Amino acid sequence: MPIKILGIESSCDETAAAVVSDGLEVLSNVVASQIDIHKKYGGVVPELASREHLRQIVPVVREALSQARTPLAELDAIAVTQGPGLVGALLVGITYGKTLAAAQQKPLIPVNHLEGHVHAVFLEAYRAHRTAKFPAVCLIVSGGHTVLYEVSPPDDCGLFRYRKIGQTRDDAAGEAYDKVAKLLALGYPGGPILDRLAAATAAQLASAGHAADTASATPPPVKFGLTKTRGNPLDFSFSGLKTAVLYHLREHPEYSAQITAREASLVRGENSFHHLLPLCDPQTLALVREFQRSVVRTLIDRTMAAAELISAESILVSGGVAANSELRSEFEKRSTAAGLEVFFPSRALSTDNAAMIAAAAYPRFRAAQFASTSLEPHPSLALT
Ligand code: KG4
Ligand code: ZN
Repeated sequence: MPIKILGIESSCDETAAAVVSDGLEVLSNVVASQIDIHKKYGGVVPELASREHLRQIVPVVREALSQARTPLAELDAIAVTQGPGLVGALLVGITYGKTLAAAQQKPLIPVNHLEGHVHAVFLEAYRAHRTAKFPAVCLIVSGGHTVLYEVSPPDDCGLFRYRKIGQTRDDAAGEAYDKVAKLLALGYPGGPILDRLAAATAAQLASAGHAADTASATPPPVKFGLTKTRGNPLDFSFSGLKTAVLYHLREHPEYSAQITAREASLVRGENSFHHLLPLCDPQTLALVREFQRSVVRTLIDRTMAAAELISAESILVSGGVAANSELRSEFEKRSTAAGLEVFFPSRALSTDNAAMIAAAAYPRFRAAQFASTSLEPHPSLALT
C-alpha cells in the first residue's frame, strides 16, 4: 500500500495542506494565499498572518483531504512545518497538526520549510521522469531566504544531508523584488509583476499604447553591477541594489509623475499587469529589466561557482523567485554550457505550498523520525 502523508504549511503568508503518496505523487495541493490581506502594507504583517491562518487552517485541510479522496483514517502520518518562519504563524499549523495526529493516533513528522523547498524540485522531476544526480548544489531563493546548499546523496531511507555554502548577508532576493516594486509603485508581491514587465513583448507593449519598439530599444537608465560581498565569494547581498534603485529614483524626478499614477491605480485596486503596463514609460521598463538582470546574473554566477567548487552533478533551484522566467531561461543556458542539468519545481510548487512538506516528510517516515506532542515552532530552524 502507498504511504499517504498529509502536509501542513503555515510558516509565512500561505495556509496550505496537501496529500502526497510515497513522497512523490501529489494527490492534492491546496493553498490559501493571504496576499490580498498583506498587500496594502507592502509586506507580511505577522499578527494578521496568524489570525488568517487560524481562519483558514480547518477548511484548507478539509479541502486537501477531500480532493485527495483520502479520509483522515487512511493517512499514514501528518507532517507539519516546524520552521524557519514566523513564530505565531508556525504555531497555528503545529497546534492543528499535533491535535489531528493525537486524535487520529497517527505519527507526527516535523519538517524544515527549506527542506520542503528542496523536495518541491523532486516532485517536478518525478512528474517529468527526470532524476537529479548528487552531490547537487541547491539554491533556495524566496522572500525570506537566499541560500546555497551542498546536497549529499540520499541514504537508504532517502534522507539527504545539507551543508550551507553561501547565504545572503542582508535582504533575500525576493525581498529585493518586493522592495523595488514598492519604490516603483507596482504592488505586492513584487516578483511576479516585475518578471512580467521585464519580459513584456512587443505585442503587449503595442496594445498598452507604447510604441512597440521603443521600450526594448531603450538603453537602461542606469547600469547595476553584480552585487558583491567581502569574505565568502558564495555569499549574496541585495540591499545595495535596492538602495541604488532608490537613489536613482530620487535623483531623477521624471519618474515621479508615473509613480503617482501607478499609486492611484493600486488604490483603485487596478494592480494587474494589464493595468500597470500602460503606466510604465520605456525608461521605467528599462530600469526594471536592468534590476532583474542584475539579480538573475548574481544568483546564477554564485550558483555556478558553487557547483564548480563542490564538483556538483546537478543544480536544484527552488523558492518563490525560482518562478522567475529570466532566471529559468538563463539558468538553462548557463548550466547546459557547463554540462550540468538544472532542476526547477513547477511554478505552482516554487512558492510556498504543503505538497513539498508532505514530500520532505516521506524519508523521515521511513526512518521513523517522529515528533512528540511537545513539538514547538522553531522560527530560525537551520537545515543540516
Ligand atoms: O517561497 P515564497 O512563496 O515565500 C517565502 O518563503 O518567502 O516566495 C515569495 C517571494 C516573494 O518575494 C515574491 O516577490 C517572489 O517570491 N516571487 C518572484 C516571482 N514569483 C514570486 N520573484 C521573481 N519572479 C517571480 N516570477
Ligand atoms: Zn518558502
